Amino acid sequence: MAKALKTIRNLAGDTPIDAALILGSGLSDIGDLLTDKVTIPFADLKGFPQGGVSGHGKDLLIGQMGSKRLAILTGRQHYYEHGDPAAMRPALQTLAELGAKTLLLTNSAGSLDRDVPPGNLMLIADHINYAGINPLIGEETDARFVNMVDAYDPELRATTHAAAARLEIALKEGIYMWYSGPSFETPAEIRMAQTLGANAVGMSTVPEVILARFMGLKVWACSSITNMGAGMAQEVISHTQTKDVAKYGAEKLKRLIPALMEEI
Ligand code: HPA
Repeated sequence: MAKALKTIRNLAGDTPIDAALILGSGLSDIGDLLTDKVTIPFADLKGFPQGGVSGHGKDLLIGQMGSKRLAILTGRQHYYEHGDPAAMRPALQTLAELGAKTLLLTNSAGSLDRDVPPGNLMLIADHINYAGINPLIGEETDARFVNMVDAYDPELRATTHAAAARLEIALKEGIYMWYSGPSFETPAEIRMAQTLGANAVGMSTVPEVILARFMGLKVWACSSITNMGAGMAQEVISHTQTKDVAKYGAEKLKRLIPALMEEI
């Protein structure tokens, strides 16, 4: 981690960043929003996502978004890649040490809410850790007992709704339920998720939120809805579809995130 920090500071300078943004499947071109950008391949950064999933980028970008200095991870590691829920811990710790006070997370997700069809965004208000594993297992300090009330910062959410209204982007809030993947859910699992109060399902984000709250970062997270949950529509759910449909959400996020960044 110290090595990655040194590499980043050598290439991008010492100016602290204000926030960090992680991009989900099919969303990596949101990185185009940065100006005065330095691009550092994850391969050069120990502890950053190696390997990877198609549809995800493989670079750390550091640059300006309006008046804010931002680090963007154009991809992430998922639990389903290797079974380690804490795989993102070194990268998140590095972003915190670079000065990030806020972590913005995006993902692609399946909707359980017929009012939020594919192509829409869903702001995450809370989550259900259905995968049942925790990235802080093995952490030995008392800091492991993280309070998860208001984990998704209420003020940032209110600011986002105001910005979305100004930009005329439809934005509902909902509860994101984490399934480990990589297989998609069964229709029975989707019906269970609905019964339990979830509004969207996905294979990421939750372990990063837990780690970020552990590190004292404010958290904001938004899903780009790429499909209805399994069994809810005729379409065949696939990763190709996730990548294809994510671009509609990406266009909205490209307008929403800069507006939000001006106000954090
Ligand atoms: N389930 C889980 N993860 C997803 C989905 C889904 O339906 N769509 C995009 N990512």
